[in-house]
Formats: sequence, C-alpha cells, structure tokens
Amino acid sequence: MASPPKLYPPRAEEGPWIEIIQKMELLYADLARMQTESETKTEELLRAKTFTDNIIRSMVNSLIVTDRDSVITMANDACCQLLGRARDQLIGKPLGTIFAEGAANPFRRGSETWNRCRSSGSASGLETLLKTERQEEIPVSVNASVMSDPTGETIGMVLVATDLREMRRLLLEARAAAAAEREQAAGRVRAYRELEALQAHLIQSEKMSSLGRMAASVAHEINNPLGAIVVYTHLLLETAPAEFSGRRNLEKIVREATRCRDIVRGLLDFARPGTGMFQAADLNRIVTAAHELLRGQTVLKQIAVDLELSQAPLEIVCDPNQLQQAFTNILFNAAESIQGRGAIAVLSWHDESRKRVAASVKDTGCGIPGDNLSRIFEPFFTTKQSCHGTGLGLAIVYGIVDRHGGEIDVDSHPGEGTTFTVWLPEKGPEEATRRATDSAPGRDRDEAWAVVPPGPPPPRREG
Ligand SMILES: Nc1ncnc2c1ncn2[C@@H]1O[C@H](COP(=O)(O)OP(=O)(O)OP(=O)(O)O)[C@@H](O)[C@H]1O
Ligand SMILES: [Mg+2]
Repeated sequence: MASPPKLYPPRAEEGPWIEIIQKMELLYADLARMQTESETKTEELLRAKTFTDNIIRSMVNSLIVTDRDSVITMANDACCQLLGRARDQLIGKPLGTIFAEGAANPFRRGSETWNRCRSSGSASGLETLLKTERQEEIPVSVNASVMSDPTGETIGMVLVATDLREMRRLLLEARAAAAAEREQAAGRVRAYRELEALQAHLIQSEKMSSLGRMAASVAHEINNPLGAIVVYTHLLLETAPAEFSGRRNLEKIVREATRCRDIVRGLLDFARPGTGMFQAADLNRIVTAAHELLRGQTVLKQIAVDLELSQAPLEIVCDPNQLQQAFTNILFNAAESIQGRGAIAVLSWHDESRKRVAASVKDTGCGIPGDNLSRIFEPFFTTKQSCHGTGLGLAIVYGIVDRHGGEIDVDSHPGEGTTFTVWLPEKGPEEATRRATDSAPGRDRDEAWAVVPPGPPPPRREG
C-alpha cells in the first residue's frame, strides 16, 4: 500500500507566490461566472430578438422606424409588400418619400402632427395616402409614437400603418347592402300602399256601383210621377182664374217639383251613361267650352280664370257633352269654394309616359277637410246649404270620368285651395275602337253598373 504524500510546511520565500496564485484562482472563478452570466444574457437577448422579429414578421400592418432626422431605419415585410419595394429601397430614405404626391406627410418636422407627437409621445388614426413603387396610391391610417433615449432626447419614431382599402371596400359594400335593403323596404311599403289603394279603389268602385244601381232604379220610379206633377200643376195654373187664392201654393208646388226633377236628372246622369256617341275630340276645346258656359254666370263673374292649355290639341275619344258637363261641375265647385275672393287656373297637358292627357282645375278656395275628402264623390254628399247644393255634382263627374276609363286626383289643403285633375286615356287606335263599341246603340246602359267599373282610385290628398 502506497504511503500518502508527505506535506512540507511552506518555506518562507514561497508565501507571496501562494497568495498570488490563490487570488488568480479567485479571479478565474469570477471570470468563469461572468462568462456564464454573459452567455445566459446573450441567449436571453437572442430569444427576445427572435421573438420580436417573429412578431414584426407576422404583423399584418406596416411598421416603419425612423431616426431623429426622419430617415427610415427599419421597415417590416408587410411594409415592403404594401409599397412594392425591397427593404434596401426604403432603408436610408427620408420618410417623406413614401407618401403620395399631394398627400400630406403628417410627420414632417415642424408639422402640427409632429409637434403633437413630440409633446404627447404619440398620435393615432392619421389618414393619409402612401405611394407604391408603381405610383399607386394607398389610403392608410397611421399610428405613431416617439422613441426617446434615457435622457428624454428624441431618437426616432415608430409608425404603424393600416391599409384602409379592404375596410373601405367593406364599408362601401355595407353601404350598398344597406341602400339595397332600404330600397327593398321602400319597395315593400310601396307595394303595400298600392295594394291598399287598390283595395280602397275596389271598395269605392263597389260602393259607387251599388249607389248607381240604387239611384237608377229610384230615379226611374220617381221621374214619371214627378213629370206628371209638374205638368198637371202647370195645367191647374193655366186654367185657374186669376183671383184663385191657391195660385201661390201651386207655383210653390211647380218650383219644388222642378227642383226634385233636377235632382232626379242628376241621379240619372250619375247612374247611366249619356246618350251621346263616343267620338274623337280635343280635350282643350271641351274645357274651354265648359269655361265659356260658366263665364256669364254670377258665380264666376268676379273671378279671374287663367287658362293655360297645352298648345297642341289633346286628342281623346269621348262623349264631349258628358265631359263638358264634368268640367262644368268641377269649375262650378271651384268658383263656389272661392266665395268671391281668389283665382282659378285651368291647365292641360299630355303625359306621354302614362299615355294619358290631363286637365286640372286649381282654385285658391276654402279647401276640403281631410275627413270629407273620402266622401266628396258620394251622391248627396254636400257641405252646402240644401238650397245651394244637392251633392250630386262630383258623383256625376266620377261616373263620367269612370266611363271614359279615366281617373281623378284631388289635392286639397284646407284654407289654401284645391286642385282636381282629370286623367283620360290618350287617343290611340285601340282606344277609338273600344270606345266606339262601348257606345254602340242598343247596349243596355244600366248594364254598366252590373259590374265593378275600372274606375278612378279614391280621391287622395297629395303634396
Ligand atoms: N273645389 C272645391 N273646393 C272645396 N270644396 C269642394 C270643392 N269641390 C267640391 N267640394 C266639396 O265637395 C262637396 C261635394 O261636391 P259636389 O259637387 O258633389 O256637390 P255640391 O257642390 O255640394 O252640390 P251640387 O250637387 O250642386 O254640385 C261640396 O259640397 C264641397 O264640400
Ligand atoms: Mg258641385
């Protein structure tokens, strides 16, 4: 067995060397520890750099870093892609070179944004235009923050730009979709209103049809006895001695019976087509004739009637006498509504798109209250005193216009006035034939009321 090494006590001259060696060993140990620490830190730094690089690489938005002189020092892949430039075409270039001509460089030194950025450290949502290699302009929204060194000195800026094209496209699409949706909704409302109007029209037509039938039968029954009363009372008056005390009563009977006969005639006019033949005529001449007829009458004497008729004749196929009566009634109502103060304008025109001609009578009279508007075409609806109106005028107008395949619009504003517009089919070859057949002799006139006529829509308030 080997004996352990023999230790000699150090000699006096070895002492300082041993101390030096011990210190060096300590120094080496320190160095080794520092190296390990430094290696760990470098590793950590590398990991952090890789992490940051990965984030920057996977960023969808463009990232640009500048130095304190606004020279680009870094640009990520997304930025190079957006601008269509290689990285080395960007690095070292002034920031201003990436903005489109005419578009503001919000980060120009001394600009408002620049100052704001410096004072608050950041700025966001700045919209501007970038310029690609191919001079294409790209709208972007930019967020920026200032980089400072530990002493607070500005050393550069970091910009993040978001491409707004996709967002704007989506916004446009959303707007277009919303507009289409609104249009569809408006279409549905329109269709609903049309249906409502159609329904109201059918109800009105049905009502007028029944009223017409009833009016016709009542008028038939009353017409003959009334005629007899008038004739026999006249006979009595003729044969009665001059001093006959009942003469005034007989005259009263004649007056009232004549009034009744006029009402019955009105009813018959409303209920039955006239006896005239349909023929080609000019609506302007018919309207003028109606005006001429009323011109001499007291009701129209003080009123200025302005005739603004179309220059070209308005050709229609009609029963001119019936239509003249319709316009006389409308004009008479207009004159009565004015009560002495106001004006009447009569207009006529041709609406090619609707294949219709129209004549309107506009007055500055009392207007029609909303509640009455749906009733004005009903027989016997009147707001006038019994001695002034029977309420048959517009019912007759309705019947006549309906028989001509036309419509009546009413636009009324209480206190301001009323406009009645009569629309009639323009004269076309088919129209002429159809109307001629309709008015062929021998056709049972009351038959017209056995079916619901394709009459005008119910009166509507416009404007
Ligand atoms: N231009 C108008 N301005 C204001 N109200 C009107 C107008 N036209 C018609 N009206 C209203 O409509 C109602 C019915 O009119 P319609 O012509 O049928 O009968 P009327 O004029 O009262 O009597 P008549 O049988 O003598 O014509 C009138 O009483 C009036 O209230
Ligand atoms: Mg009237």
